[in-house]
Formats: sequence, structure tokens, C-alpha cells
Amino acid sequence: MYLTHLSLTDFRIFSRLDQDIPKNSLILVGDNAQGKTSLLEAVYFISSMDSIQASNSSELINFSAQRNKIAVARIVADYRKANREHQIEIRLIQDTNTNGNQYVRKEVLLDGRKRKINRVIGHFNAVLFLPHMLQMITESPRQRRRYLNLTISQVHPGYHDLLTEYNKAIGQRNALLKQLNEHGGDPDQLAYWDELVTQNGSRIMYARIQFLQELEQQAASIHQELTRGEEVLRLAYQPAYEPLPNPPGQIGLPLQDPVDRSYLSLEEIEGGLREALLELREKEIYRGVTTIGPHRDDVLFLSNGIDLGTYGSRGQIRTTLLALKMAEVGWIKEKNGHWPVLLLDEVLAELDETRREDLLDRLAKTEQSLLTTADASLFTPAFREHSRVWHIQKGRLKMK
Ligand SMILES: Nc1ncnc2c1ncn2[C@@H]1O[C@H](COP(=O)(O)OP(=O)(O)OP(=O)(O)O)[C@@H](O)[C@H]1O
Ligand SMILES: [Mg+2]
Repeated sequence: MYLTHLSLTDFRIFSRLDQDIPKNSLILVGDNAQGKTSLLEAVYFISSMDSIQASNSSELINFSAQRNKIAVARIVADYRKANREHQIEIRLIQDTNTNGNQYVRKEVLLDGRKRKINRVIGHFNAVLFLPHMLQMITESPRQRRRYLNLTISQVHPGYHDLLTEYNKAIGQRNALLKQLNEHGGDPDQLAYWDELVTQNGSRIMYARIQFLQELEQQAASIHQELTRGEEVLRLAYQPAYEPLPNPPGQIGLPLQDPVDRSYLSLEEIEGGLREALLELREKEIYRGVTTIGPHRDDVLFLSNGIDLGTYGSRGQIRTTLLALKMAEVGWIKEKNGHWPVLLLDEVLAELDETRREDLLDRLAKTEQSLLTTADASLFTPAFREHSRVWHIQKGRLKMK
């Protein structure tokens, strides 16, 4: 799939942008703070309906537009997918509620019809690589869960709904656990929330297990090429509820051993989680929170059995992330039948020459990639020849 047209209104630095986008590769060259990352952020928003950068959607609305009583940032993307034209429009509307507090609501239209956000996520597919994503590997599990969720949503249409339902159920269950802890009451009131947590949680876990197993295969083989056969990459799922029966005499599972959970059926995970919640009930009332389930999962990135999050060198982490992003591209193509659009922010500057060439070769296979750089000379002359090079300055594009 590929973008054919992008229009932005009052999105970040772009007060107005209305532009046909070429197929294949487009290199956006610009100095610092001209809007390169913001443009990729806008395109990624179309696939995930969320910003990977902003902690609050109001940050996305152009500063001067925010002075208006009602401010609207708009992203409209036309794209071609399986030989059909589609359009997604996203409106971020900043309004004021009756208490005088500002809030932002999202409206999404697919092919001109208003839709629920969950129905549109993953209709347009993109894979984004930002330099600061390296933190995903080294920092908190929350960021790795977010990575899992954003990526799985690209191919699993019901996944976002499962997450929404699950998080709601966890919130309600935690409130009830707290209430039982503080005021007592019949613990069987938990049964309703246990069931919702079990049904949605087991489906999320099942999807994560399958995803990680499939992605690991592709990522490990790319990673092996990138490290010239010296390192073996593994993506080790660390579920907060372990659906595997522990090997006898062993508490927990050692990191070094690859663990296969992909043979487990959904029913097995579901049954196990239901039972575990019941078993833990007394302890969880005492603690006032739900201690197991996908909201506490993690995934570790291991190279030759060593946790890169703790011990990885910057170069190792960079290579791993690159392998991961390339694997995502292949995985989405395999699952959805079409190439995602690749969004690479300043990536080449981070890579040595061989990896740079390796990446450029792989890019040539996809249908469209948008790359940003402050220095166009990082691209090989051959790659530049096959790409369009545009300049970006203060939120305006200039073609050469
Ligand atoms: N809501 C907003 N309204 C107006 N301007 C904004 C808004 N949010 C961010 N900006 C500004 O937009 C500019 C461009 O940011 P962006 O991150 O896209 O730049 P960049 O070209 O990627 O720069 P760098 O090379 O440093 O990464 C920054 O100066 C930033 O402060
Ligand atoms: Mg940038």
C-alpha cells in the first residue's frame, strides 16, 4: 500500500500542507526543528490512531490554532491498497467542557463515513522507526507492552477492542478488590470481573504469544545477517500469568532456555487464567490490585542469551531495533498481503556503512518509504537517484 496524498491542517508546525506523495522512496531533507519528525508522526497516526510522541493529544494541535475557542487539527490521507483508493480523515478537536477544562476528542472517517476508532486502526499500515525508540528495549515494560499493542493492532482487527475491554475490566476489578479490602463483603462479587478479565486477557495473551513467535523467526534471521552470524536474537515473552505448567522442581523459567508457548490453545490459557485468578483471590483482596494478566506482561530482547535491556551496548540495541522493524515489515506483508509504508526518521545517521546499504537494499523491495535526514549525502547516489528528494522548512515542503 502507499500514500497518494497527504493533507494536514493545524497539525503541529503544519498550519496547512496539501501534497501528492510519490510512490517508492521519498527523502525529506531539513535542518533541525523544521517538521520532519512531525510529518512522519502524522502518517503513523493514520495507522495507529495514536501518537508515538505526544503524551497528550493537545500537543498535536498547532500552537496558534489553540488560541481559538475550538481548535481542530486535521490529517487527511489518501492511499491505495489492493488496487483500491481509500481515504482516512482524523480530526483532533480541542474543546472545553462544562467545568472549563480543555479536552481533545478524536473523530475518524474512513472513506467519508464516521467510524469508531477501533474499526479503523490497521486499515492503513505503517512501520515507524524513530531514533528514541531504542528506549523501548532499555526502559520500562510499559513501553514494550505499548509496542506489542501497537504492532499487533496492525494485523489483528479485534485486538484493540480486547484491550479496551480488558483495561476497563481491570479498572473495575481493582476498585472492587480495594473495596473488599477496606470494607469487606462477599468475594464472589468478583466473579463477573474475573470472567471479563479471563476472556479478554487470555485472547490478548494468545495473540501476543503467536505474534512474538512469528516476529522472532523473521527478526532473528535478519539479526543474524546484520551481526554476520555472531549473535542469536530471541524475543522472550514474560507473561505475568505463566500459562505453562512449571517444569517439576523449578520455580519460574530460566531466561536462557527458549520457551515455546505457541502450542497452547486459547482454551488452555483461558482455563488456566480463570483458575489462577480464583487461587489468588484472597491475596489480591489483601493487596487491592490484580497482580496477574497482560497488563503486567513484559518481553525481553536477548542476544546470545543476554538481556539487551540491561546489558546491551548501544550498537547492539540499535541493530536489534533495526532487525525488529524490518521483521515487522515482512510480518505485516505476510499477514495482510500488502507492504506497510515505512517511516524512517534519521535512521541512516545511526548506522554504519554496511548496515546502511543493507537497509537501503531492503527498502527497495517495499512499495513506499518516507525517510528523513538532515544530511542527504548519507544516502548512496544510487538510492538518491531512485528517490524523490524534497526539502522541508518551517512546515513547508519544497520540491527539487
Ligand atoms: N503543536 C505545535 N504547534 C506548533 N509547532 C509545534 C507544535 N508541536 C511541535 N512544534 C514545533 O515544530 C517544530 C518541528 O518539530 P519536529 O520534531 O518535526 O522537527 P524535526 O525537523 O524533526 O527536527 P530535528 O531534526 O531536530 O529532529 C519544533 O520546533 C517544535 O517545537
Ligand atoms: Mg526530528
